[in-house]
Amino acid sequence: MNRMIKKAILPAGGLGTRFLPATKASPKEMLPIVDKPMIQYAVEEAQACGIEDFIIITGKHKRAIEDHFDSAFKLEESLKKSGKKKLLEEINRLNQLNFAYIRQREALGLGHAILCAKPFVKDEPFAVLLSDDIIDTDAHLLRDMINLYKEFESPVLALQKVPISEVNKYGIIDGTKEKDKIYRVNNLIEKPSAAEAPSDLAIIGRYILTPDLFGALEDVRPGKGGEIQLTDALSGLLKKRQIYGYLFTGKRYDAGDKLGYLKATVDLALKNTELSVAFKEYLVKTVEKIKTKQ
Ligand code: G1P
Repeated sequence: MNRMIKKAILPAGGLGTRFLPATKASPKEMLPIVDKPMIQYAVEEAQACGIEDFIIITGKHKRAIEDHFDSAFKLEESLKKSGKKKLLEEINRLNQLNFAYIRQREALGLGHAILCAKPFVKDEPFAVLLSDDIIDTDAHLLRDMINLYKEFESPVLALQKVPISEVNKYGIIDGTKEKDKIYRVNNLIEKPSAAEAPSDLAIIGRYILTPDLFGALEDVRPGKGGEIQLTDALSGLLKKRQIYGYLFTGKRYDAGDKLGYLKATVDLALKNTELSVAFKEYLVKTVEKIKTKQ
C-alpha cells in the first residue's frame, strides 16, 4: 500500500448548534480565530505535513467554505495595485492546494461524513482533521502521527488524557501502552458514561486512516445519538487489524465550544506578531482590574 499521506478529509457538515445564532446561516468552520477561519488552521497544519489534496465534506449553508479556498481574482488585483504584498502572499499561500467538496446530504454523523469521501480516496491512506480541534502546530502532532503510520502501516488515532467528568464528550479507548506515548488499541467506545469508560484516553480530532475503514463504515449501524459513528467503525476494523493511539501532550483547544474558542483566540492572539505586544498589555491590565474587584 502507498505509505504517503497526500489526502485529508475535513468533515464540515455539522450544524454548529453550540454557536447559534452565529451559525444560523454561516458555517461554524468559518468563525475566525484572530484573522483566519477555524478550518484554515487545520488545512495549514496538514499542508505543513505535505498534504495537498483536501476533501471537505459540507452541507447546507456551507458555501462560504468553498469561496474561502477559491482564488479571489479581484481582491488579488486590488492588493497588487495598492502594494499590499504581505496580505497578497497570505491569501495566495494556499493556492497550490487542491480542494474538492462533497455535500453530505443528511446529517447522519461523523462516520457517514467520512464514508461520503470513499469514491475520491480509493486505495490510499488518508488523514482526517476535525477543524474545531485547534492543535498547537509547534507540537507537530500530525507529523508524528504520519511517521508512526509509516512505521506500523496501521491506523493511528490522536489521544489526549481527559478528566473522567469529560469522557462522555469523546470516543474513549482501552489501550495497552507499547512505548512512550504509543498505545495499542484494544477497544473503543463512543461517548461512554464515566462508569462505562475503559480509560481516560480520549480520541481527539486527528486520525490517520486506511482505506479498509470504508468497508467497516458500511457495516456500521447507527450508534450514539442515532448517528453513524467513526468510533464504531474503528471498533469493527479492530477485528481485522491493529490500530494505534498516539498520546498528544501538547496544547489543544476545543474551539467547537465557546470557552475553548475564547481560549484559542487569546493564545493565538498572543502568538500573533502584529498583535502580541498590545494585546498582552491589554490582558495584563484586564487581569489586574479583575483581581482588584475580587
Ligand atoms: C467526534 C468523535 C469522537 C471524538 C471527537 C474529538 O465527536 O465522534 O469520537 O472523540 O470528535 O473531537 P464530536 O466532537 O463530533 O461530537
